[in-house]
Amino acid sequence: MDDILNKIKEFESFALSKLESVNDKKALDAIKIELLSRKGRLSEFYGMVSKVPTEMRPKLGAELNRIKKVIQDKIELTDKAFREVFKKEFFDYTLPVRASFIGHKHPLLQTVDDIITIFHGMGFEVAHGPDVETDYYNFDALNTPEDHPSRDLSDTFYIKKGILLRTHTSPVQIRTMEKKKPPVKIIAPGRCYRSDTPDASHSPVFYQCEGLYVDEGVSFGDLKGTITAFARTMFGKNVKVRFRPHFFPFTEPSVEYDFSCIICGGKGCRVCKYNGWLEISGAGMVDPEVFKTVGYDSEKYTGFAFGMGVDRITMLRYQIDDIRLLYENDVRFIRQF
Ligand code: DAH
Repeated sequence: MDDILNKIKEFESFALSKLESVNDKKALDAIKIELLSRKGRLSEFYGMVSKVPTEMRPKLGAELNRIKKVIQDKIELTDKAFREVFKKEFFDYTLPVRASFIGHKHPLLQTVDDIITIFHGMGFEVAHGPDVETDYYNFDALNTPEDHPSRDLSDTFYIKKGILLRTHTSPVQIRTMEKKKPPVKIIAPGRCYRSDTPDASHSPVFYQCEGLYVDEGVSFGDLKGTITAFARTMFGKNVKVRFRPHFFPFTEPSVEYDFSCIICGGKGCRVCKYNGWLEISGAGMVDPEVFKTVGYDSEKYTGFAFGMGVDRITMLRYQIDDIRLLYENDVRFIRQF
């Protein structure tokens, strides 16, 4: 009998050390079968109960039941630990993908990129200037008289006396010419600010793209050709360009230029207010006064300059009828482009 009890003890420590070293669920299941199944090791011991003298049987039975409980408890504990880890580490490959949205450029900046690409193709470089400007660069150097209405507090956001948010990208012309001798051939896209009440066609912040080409022998014909080439690349070869006499302090002669309506092809529609033309911006030959300010010899050099309403171009190409949509940053709107 002692012999059997010793064997049972040995079995107990064997079983427990085996359970101690198990490290996955599959191995645990195998051990469970090995130890506790009907043909398992513990069953063998139970089989011996009937073979020992009757008075010994209760003791042997009780000992086996104790060990069985110890082993079952240990198995359950180990199994529970595995389930915890599984819960934490489990990755279900069959779950449907959660929708995620990849960001992209704002439609305005997509237009800026396309404008840059087109002008790169004609040899223009990109120049930049600050959004916060001095009134010297925004007005004086551009030959804008002291009493010009655009300087009014009602049109311009002043930060303090002499410092303002630029009202156009034209100051980049001056900054570029101050730094570099001709030839100069740049475009300058960027944000501009005016104290306008927002409506479908006005926003206090908007985008322009300035252009400037100065060299010997640059003519008004070059200006017309450049703008026309741009219009056709941007909107297709059937687009017509029209130049109307105008006045700007920094160009002489000055024009405003229009594209034939790209919505109706010039026949007349709501977008072009039934006149077939869309106003884009102003342009002209750089005024000799401006050359004088930056120290260029106006006897030797001529140049053209132009502005361009990036918002207008964006609205036309994507058929957006309210400029405010471009600045509200409602992702439901922006995602469409
Ligand atoms: N700066 C002008 C504006 O904001 C647009 C403009 C007109 C730019 C004529 C030019 C130009 O470079 O030559 O309305």
